[in-house]
Amino acid sequence: MKARVGVVGGGTYGSVLINAYYGAHKRGEVDFVAVADLNPEILKKMETAYGLKGYTDYREMFDKEHLDAVAVMTPDFLHEEVVLEAAKRKIHILVQKPLSTDRGEGERMIQAAKDNHVMLYVDLHKRLDPAHIQLKNAIKSGKLGEIEYGYVCMEDKILVPTEWFKTWAKNSSPAWFIGIHFYDLIYWLLEEKPVRVYASGLKKKLVSMGIDSYDSLQSKFEFANGASITVDASWILPNSFSSIVNQQIRLVGTEGFQEVDSQDRGVVAAYNSDTYSHVVNPYGNIMVDDPVAGPVPTGYCIDSMLVFLKLVNRMLEGTKLEELSGLYPTGEDALVSTIMCQSAHESARTGKVVEIQY
Ligand SMILES: NC(=O)c1ccc[n+]([C@@H]2O[C@H](COP(=O)([O-])OP(=O)(O)OC[C@H]3O[C@@H](n4cnc5c(N)ncnc54)[C@H](O)[C@@H]3O)[C@@H](O)[C@H]2O)c1
Repeated sequence: MKARVGVVGGGTYGSVLINAYYGAHKRGEVDFVAVADLNPEILKKMETAYGLKGYTDYREMFDKEHLDAVAVMTPDFLHEEVVLEAAKRKIHILVQKPLSTDRGEGERMIQAAKDNHVMLYVDLHKRLDPAHIQLKNAIKSGKLGEIEYGYVCMEDKILVPTEWFKTWAKNSSPAWFIGIHFYDLIYWLLEEKPVRVYASGLKKKLVSMGIDSYDSLQSKFEFANGASITVDASWILPNSFSSIVNQQIRLVGTEGFQEVDSQDRGVVAAYNSDTYSHVVNPYGNIMVDDPVAGPVPTGYCIDSMLVFLKLVNRMLEGTKLEELSGLYPTGEDALVSTIMCQSAHESARTGKVVEIQY
């Protein structure tokens, strides 16, 4: 059995997912049939490039296409409505990170998926980066001892909030848009939820450019045993920086420490056509020549989206949803990072330490 698949939202990252799902379609793994977006120009492009039927109303797509699975690729604060509508129709759901920018919204999505017995899969791809898997293995084997403290930076170039989605940057923040990746990663690596957070944030650069959003948000998360990890999230790096995103994590424990530079993987390029050099991540999303399907994207960002399709196909073949528990980031898993992020914003707003309630 092959899943019939659709997408809601064909924007910047929706296009990446559509390219990945088209690869799965070419390999004969799914029937990738339709896309919904408010923008008819996007629909025209997706029809020409991938043969997808386009809808400006996702409800009409749900009504007509008899989908088994849908990927929700709308902006951070617009996931709930689409997810609830899909769940009601018994369609399995991949939703982009963050699950939601509000705890209540996240809880309603989780409940709707539960009530309708559908999968709610959250695309949190940092868990599939091989360097992070190796780090988790090292922690689990005890090589680092008990983690005492750590540090993360996660920073986008300023073109992300000012050019890519300047219309909705004010409804998100560097913590919601990218910090969330590492909030989740910390929870996944340590298998423990932090109990309190102190955060501070600055609104200067973007406000001066007419965008009412944090430039940066620095959050110190503390765990019940006294350990703490600080996450600096920002999206104001100069556009001349050598990658779209700068990202690193380091953890220090009683028996060892480990650092992962998730930006600089040792691949540097300079071209006469460009005014700055590039540091390339060859593990996230690159095109390869598949012997069956021709050019398709691969890498951990892509794998994370494809695992969802594999799991849906397994369910169509008779595997029960409960049997897949532990194999993917569920809504419940992702709600942890949503609550961490919401608590960090509350701390930055009030200037107070926030005890995190889950
Ligand atoms: N995992 C990652 O590395 C990663 C990277 C970038 C973005 N994202 C996430 O992907 C999601 C989308 O981000 P983006 O950068 O592609 O945003 P975007 O603004 O480029 O695209 C969003 C698209 O959704 C469409 N849309 C909005 N409301 C809709 C509706 N009701 N029905 C149909 N279409 C609708 C818009 O027209 C737009 O084309 C966000 O949650 C974002 O955080 C994830």
